[in-house]
Amino acid sequence: MRHLMSPLDFNTEELEQLFQLANRIEANPEAYSHACDGKKLATCFYEPSTRTRLSFEAAMLNLGGSVLGFADQANSSAAKGESVADTIRVISCYADICAMRHPKEGAPMVASMNSQIPVINAGDGGHQHPTQTLTDLLTIRSLKGTLGGLVIGLCGDLKFGRTVHSLINALVRYPDISFILISPEELRLPDYIREDVLKANHVPYKEVVRLEDVMSELDLLYMTRVQKERFFNEEDYVRMKDFYILDKKKMTLAGPDMLVLHPLPRVNEIAVEVDSDPRAVYFKQAQYGVYARMALILTLLNISVD
Ligand code: NCD
Repeated sequence: MRHLMSPLDFNTEELEQLFQLANRIEANPEAYSHACDGKKLATCFYEPSTRTRLSFEAAMLNLGGSVLGFADQANSSAAKGESVADTIRVISCYADICAMRHPKEGAPMVASMNSQIPVINAGDGGHQHPTQTLTDLLTIRSLKGTLGGLVIGLCGDLKFGRTVHSLINALVRYPDISFILISPEELRLPDYIREDVLKANHVPYKEVVRLEDVMSELDLLYMTRVQKERFFNEEDYVRMKDFYILDKKKMTLAGPDMLVLHPLPRVNEIAVEVDSDPRAVYFKQAQYGVYARMALILTLLNISVD
């Protein structure tokens, strides 16, 4: 039985198979509409979510399966003090696969160690968000035609943004990748990722504060929201929250093929006026999230249609 805790749980060949499956699903969704007949997905969300939970549910429904779960820990027995380990033991009796989001780093890992069914980490605190990474990689691969040879700008809250942490981990395995890390001093990428992932893999990177200065160098700009819920005090958040605002004017500094991605939700960091720019692909990215999760569910449940 296989779980997904980190994007590194799949090697690059396995990821390639998963992306090809996702593209086949995109081209012919009807062929997969009964692939999970009789199967159930449990979504256990101890933290807010719109896209991740609903795209998981849409993915399972598109595959002919059904879904159960909770979207708020206040409505689950966690509010009575139940441990994640006990909860997953019980969910294992009710469902065939589980997607779990939790504010505590490592909680989905604890669940996987006590589970009879595959567990998918749907975001654990400021740590990892592997299914967002599958979504991001599928989007890049589908729209750019490759995952190698790209200059990737990561902008915003690189300290607390788990989507960025997972994406860096996954991308360093592709050839000729380089990163431009764009953040205020206070929200720089954590040392452990700079040292253990970027430096350890000899991946070129530079760190800058001003987005304007590097726009022209980028093949891809990955914007992120300042992660309000991970700040210790409101004042720091308020100071940081509008540090970056990508608008039409800044977009004129970028090349014609530079794509703008964002895991969403957006707050203020991308002006709405950018949405109509053909290089802004964040809503397409959300659609790719459904195909990526459909492919993941089939893979973890060992269901083959082709
Ligand atoms: C992200 C998350 O939850 O980490 N959202 C998502 O799943 N698409 C990004 C965010 O909340 O900023």
